[in-house]
Amino acid sequence: MTIKTDDTNYYREKILREAPETEPERQLYFCERVREIVKERYGGEATFHIETYGCQMNAKDSEKLAGLLLQAGFREAETENADFVLYNTCTVRENANQKVYGHLGYVHSLKNKRPSMLVGICGCMMQEAEEVEKIKKSYRFVDIIFGTHNIFKLAELLFDRLTTGHMEVDVWEGTTEVVEDLPAERKYPFKSGVNIMFGCNNFCSYCIVPYVRGRERSREPEDIVAEIRKLAADGVVEVMLLGQNVNSYGKTLDSPISFAELLRRVEKIDGIERIRFMTSHPKDLSDELIQVMKESKKICRHLHLPVQSGSTEILKKMNRRYTKEQYLDLVDRIRAAMPDISLTTDIIVGFPGETEEDFEDTLDVVRKVRYDSAFTFIYSKRSGTPAAAMENQVPEAAVKERFDRLLKEVQQISSEVCCRDLHTVQPVLVEEKNSHMDGYVTGRMGNNTLVHFPGDESLIGAIVDVYLEESKGFYYMGRQEV
Ligand code: 5AD
Ligand code: SF4
Repeated sequence: MTIKTDDTNYYREKILREAPETEPERQLYFCERVREIVKERYGGEATFHIETYGCQMNAKDSEKLAGLLLQAGFREAETENADFVLYNTCTVRENANQKVYGHLGYVHSLKNKRPSMLVGICGCMMQEAEEVEKIKKSYRFVDIIFGTHNIFKLAELLFDRLTTGHMEVDVWEGTTEVVEDLPAERKYPFKSGVNIMFGCNNFCSYCIVPYVRGRERSREPEDIVAEIRKLAADGVVEVMLLGQNVNSYGKTLDSPISFAELLRRVEKIDGIERIRFMTSHPKDLSDELIQVMKESKKICRHLHLPVQSGSTEILKKMNRRYTKEQYLDLVDRIRAAMPDISLTTDIIVGFPGETEEDFEDTLDVVRKVRYDSAFTFIYSKRSGTPAAAMENQVPEAAVKERFDRLLKEVQQISSEVCCRDLHTVQPVLVEEKNSHMDGYVTGRMGNNTLVHFPGDESLIGAIVDVYLEESKGFYYMGRQEV
């Protein structure tokens, strides 16, 4: 179908009239319409580039967005020098926002040279009204703005933008809808993230996520299992089950089921050899889950268990709903069941009211648990969260000093802990050609530690036995056992 400028309105109305009302059919229909427009306006194929910030949820969302764009006739480009550039944003800490504004400045200069270029922004930052206002006012070259709840609508939004010429802003406050069966472009052929739930109901007092990702919604177990079966048939051997708080999976479904039960069902899927999940909230981690992990042959011996702080007083102000002692007790129970498990964590330094004594408690937990690694963050004030209004914000210099001390401790322990499997043979999933050493490949052990060893590209996607010859602190050098 060709569109001439003077009959655009007629064309647009006809298309809107004929569009299916149900999903995903409606979006697939708009993908086709955008494909036709792209063909006419960009002389064949147009290119897209997605810049993704933040967590695994966003990475997964970007795979879905890429899937829709491929369906809509775009081809992926490596850089922002593309016909459509989309920023999938994060807002969990202030510096995440700053990075996006930096990129917007750059993409504006590109667009000045290439006026047909389209720029979109989506993700968590767009769920904040003041950020949307700022973009509408000061970044008027942006073409499309949408949030976290309607990423499935990308093609429809593009259609609107291309047929009206107006900046398209569509941010939803929330949703109960989970749109299934949309195309997704996976980054790796052999491993994939799988959303099992969306949103978060915990309202930790420092965290913006419940406001930007909305209330907790679980997918039906049948849909999850069907998706993983399809992935397995497609050659995927490792899945990462994704949710902000996987331990409360299934509680709000019409027929409630536990996360442990979901894991049992995923375990039975032929072809899947490794199961990971992220993130576990300590308050909801059940003994049933520990038992299922212990008995499983596929669930990786790794738990990411964010502690956030070691001080019971601070944990209370953070609304984490566990004490230092309860956390340490949970770690003991996990370790008693699985002595070889790797534990990793997130820690925030400088939460309002944190004293030297509170911080010492955090160091104490770090020394007792001995994490394989820890993501350490300086507290960032997020407006709209309860913590932003708290008194006693800690002075910057004190926070910086504590942060450096914590980092040193974490790194020291991690270099000691990470060599625990030295001189053993471990299964390694080969992920890529080593970019620094010719003739080497890089893979991951079940506990997520990286291993480099001599090998060629044909090994990518296979799980092979590797003898760990040398520990380099955070990774191993090895050789394949044949
Ligand atoms: N400041 C600093 N770190 C934060 N996180 C979440 N919100 C904030 C904030 N306001 C950290 C937590 C969480 C991780 C994903 O980001 O440690 O587990
Ligand atoms: Fe944020 Fe807490 Fe929910 Fe994690 S559990 S997303 S830290 S509110």
